[in-house]
Amino acid sequence: MIIIIGNQKGGAGKSTLTLLLANYLTLVKKRTVTVIDMDYQESLSQKFEKAKVLENEEPYEVVKAALEDFPDLLEVMKTDSQALILIDLPGKLDDDGLLPVFKAAELVICPFAYDEFSFESTVLFSVVLKKVSPDCRLLFIPNRVKANVKYDTQVDVNEQLSKFGPVLQAIPDRIDFQRTSTFQTPLAVFPVVRPVFDALYKQYLKLTPDE
Ligand SMILES: Nc1ncnc2c1ncn2[C@@H]1O[C@H](COP(=O)(O)OP(=O)(O)OP(=O)(O)O)[C@@H](O)[C@H]1O
Ligand SMILES: [Mg+2]
Repeated sequence: MIIIIGNQKGGAGKSTLTLLLANYLTLVKKRTVTVIDMDYQESLSQKFEKAKVLENEEPYEVVKAALEDFPDLLEVMKTDSQALILIDLPGKLDDDGLLPVFKAAELVICPFAYDEFSFESTVLFSVVLKKVSPDCRLLFIPNRVKANVKYDTQVDVNEQLSKFGPVLQAIPDRIDFQRTSTFQTPLAVFPVVRPVFDALYKQYLKLTPDE
């Protein structure tokens, strides 16, 4: 299954959520995961190379790929139907090379924040995605939600985004998230993301009904 983690908004949490989800899927659910790093800054693959030096065994592979390599990669990836391919997208949409990625996606996870600029980018991303790939399932994860802030737009934003797909439970803004790496979810972060990923897994990713 090809899963994109994307949003046009920079800093929404795409790379962080990609790693947290990859860690969850391999460590908790024992699934086969490959992460494709299409973020131009290549942050995940750099982290992966560093982590590889430190760890003995890699529970999943992080492959750095240019957008133009995607069609070839797809041919290979399609051969394992149970594998979960997580694609970390860059925070910009102005590249035609993204079209085959959007078309191949079976599920798109879109992290976003409750601020005005994030909303516009999130809607733009959703409109483009749905235009290119109308049947693709899209879901939203509010991220970096601060406990002591009242977001005036929250209800409206959720209502607007719900037209494209469900809005899952929010992930709070916590400094520990910045220590997330390949193969390592900071302990304090784990219980915070677990309910969100459990819901996501149950609804979209599980292999058998009683899993
Ligand atoms: N829930 C959170 N709480 C606190 N910090 C977070 C949270 N989620 C992400 N961050 C931090 O926010 C910053 C941006 O996150 P990240 O790099 O994952 O975003 P991105 O969408 O991949 O950005 P880009 O568009 O630049 O690729 C990072 O420093 C990350 O550690
Ligand atoms: Mg990123």
